Amino acid sequence: MRARLYIAIICAGLILSGSCKRNETETDQSNLKADTMAAITKKSFGTTPEGKEVTEFTLTNKRGVSLSVINYGGIITRLLVPNRKGVLEDIVLGYDSLSGYVKDSPYFGAIVGRYGNRIANGKFTLDGKEYTLAQNNNGQHLHGGVKGFDKVFWNVEEAGANTLRLTYQSKDMEEGYPGNLSVEVTYALTDVNELKISYTATTDKKTIINLTQHSYFNLTGNAKRDILDHELTLYSDKFVPVTKVLIPTGELKDVSGSPFDFRTSTAIGARVNEKDQQLGFGRGYDHCWVLSSPDSMKHAASLYEPVSGRALDVYTTEPAIQFYCGNFLDGSITGKYNVVYSHRYGLCLETEHYPDSPNQKDFPSTELSPGEVYQTQTTYKFSTR
Ligand code: GLA
Repeated sequence: MRARLYIAIICAGLILSGSCKRNETETDQSNLKADTMAAITKKSFGTTPEGKEVTEFTLTNKRGVSLSVINYGGIITRLLVPNRKGVLEDIVLGYDSLSGYVKDSPYFGAIVGRYGNRIANGKFTLDGKEYTLAQNNNGQHLHGGVKGFDKVFWNVEEAGANTLRLTYQSKDMEEGYPGNLSVEVTYALTDVNELKISYTATTDKKTIINLTQHSYFNLTGNAKRDILDHELTLYSDKFVPVTKVLIPTGELKDVSGSPFDFRTSTAIGARVNEKDQQLGFGRGYDHCWVLSSPDSMKHAASLYEPVSGRALDVYTTEPAIQFYCGNFLDGSITGKYNVVYSHRYGLCLETEHYPDSPNQKDFPSTELSPGEVYQTQTTYKFSTR
């Protein structure tokens, strides 16, 4: 009797463990599946001339959309999204390997800072003290200087499902900027095809900051042709006019009746070559559009490519968006998929504060003091129609 009891207990135990195992395997399966879905894959992306290892992280969501990022410059190297037929193709410009990014990149897919866009003559004053920055663009300062955030190593860690946290410590007086600045940027890829980017920073000394993401978009897929047929809407009725070295004049100009009016969806190529002083200075569109309700999340831009059916919507808490239509691309760069990046093969929608704000008293401030937290969000949402 007891023996049978033992046998019964053992059998029960085995069955139970079996079922647990099943459950386990099922869960493992689902976890595995979920894990696989949410897993972030990593691979080597090469070594810099200084011998530093570069790693590429790839996030893939439930719909197969995938984002690849490297720890060098926080650069987005690839972004695969479907066309209206569901075919996944790459909608950002860049290189297949590291050397192009190290040697010759007009900020392809990079995190830009400490101050994105231009600062007049590379000079600004804080509390009566003048600071001198590199004049790395036509006598002006551009995108953080010679070695901006696009050329430094970011510490990258997984921060939850399909999310990467990138951190960088920018030392006091790096590139001439005051204050030890701790920066954190997160890239989150959602299952509804959104790339959510959040920027956070603190400083131990008063400084200036203006971070942005410098991806060049081309919605045709693998950059089949230039972006002139892309239809753009900018939810803005004012832009910032500039001088011939692309420094703001200080005024804000109404877009009405000008080639800068994108309040209704318009092909980028429709007016880009019109005879217009501001288009002349920019060599096309390379200007800052002012957005309403500065700190709240709002619709900034919509982009549509009629052949593929791909669309991109941009939402941000930033007060402005720089629209640059790739005027400096001149065919001297051959990028991924062996595509020659000819004139206007990519466009940038850089959400940020206005250019040269440290020298413009009427522009929203870009100053950051100890105890304050710099916090901005931008979402790029991909869809088709
Ligand atoms: C920004 C600037 C452009 C150009 C590109 C990078 O978009 O506004 O003038 O410098 O960066 O080449």
